[in-house]
Amino acid sequence: MENNRSLPPFPNNWFVIGFSDELRPGGLLRRRLAGQDLVVFRTESGVPGAMDAYCPHLGADFSYGGKVVGETIRCPFHGFCFNREGTCVATGYGTKPPPTAQVRTWPFSEQNGLLMVYYHGGDAAPTWEVPAFDVAGWGPPLTRCFYLKTHPQETTENGVDIGHLAWVHGYQDVEVLKSYEMDGPRLVVRYAMSRSANALGKVGQRLRAEFTISVHGLGFSVVEVDVPAFGMRTRHFVCATPVDAGRLDMRVVMRLREVSHPAKINPALTFVPRSLVNSLIARLTFNGFLHDLQQDFPMWEHKQYIQPPLLAKGDGPIGKFRTWTRQFYSQPVPMLEREPVHMEV
Ligand SMILES: [Fe+2]
Repeated sequence: MENNRSLPPFPNNWFVIGFSDELRPGGLLRRRLAGQDLVVFRTESGVPGAMDAYCPHLGADFSYGGKVVGETIRCPFHGFCFNREGTCVATGYGTKPPPTAQVRTWPFSEQNGLLMVYYHGGDAAPTWEVPAFDVAGWGPPLTRCFYLKTHPQETTENGVDIGHLAWVHGYQDVEVLKSYEMDGPRLVVRYAMSRSANALGKVGQRLRAEFTISVHGLGFSVVEVDVPAFGMRTRHFVCATPVDAGRLDMRVVMRLREVSHPAKINPALTFVPRSLVNSLIARLTFNGFLHDLQQDFPMWEHKQYIQPPLLAKGDGPIGKFRTWTRQFYSQPVPMLEREPVHMEV
């Protein structure tokens, strides 16, 4: 049975298609998004962009042997060059370019160390942007990419699914600090819980952590985690990008706020150089994050989308979340229009 058969496969959204450091000036990347092939490039002056992968002249794939030349992309087949707006500015023969030679370009944004493209089923321009996060005082990003059989709405819903935190992740004392706040394509929820300190603390120690989850569309969620007892703070990006129907790339990023009182975490750390402390704690915390994230994978990869869901007290604002998601689909979707029961935690 096809996964998520009731949801349109590709919501209109900003999607992350790579990390900034994958794309040097003069470089290009081959990417797939919403069942389409793209070439992502950075001109020699450093300006990034994305366009359809196929040359409109005779169909060669720019990403197989194409080259960035100055501020253009040159097709490997006949040497036609296209500028960042997708207009053909030269043929490989020195003749006049065909007047209609144009490649479709994709709205592009680069911030937070991420390369982002806006997808819209009707080719409409974006009406909102993903915010930039200040990195001063934060350590370097740790990153990972997973390929999963699921839908970006399913993975994004995970952030408001309070009920699974105990069942899937083993968190305890889950407490909702701020039930739900939405503003157009953004949504914020805050909660606290306690969990094992893992490698960072004493054996058997449980720690209270406060989570602020801000969701920006269905492709970019930010999780900020505070552990007051350790004076520790991390920021995580969870980026879900549908490459094909029911298939997505999930890129994750974590940064650690530079630790100011390492003795709070472990007195022995007082004698360790601060840069080493930060990289050690970042690595251990990132491993813990990846462990918890991967606990969700079997659910996402094998579940069905049920609409309306049979909600119960303790679920979290799943009903409201699903109503909020309607803005990301072009057409009214019968399965989405069936009203979920709105139950609060
Ligand atoms: Fe989860």
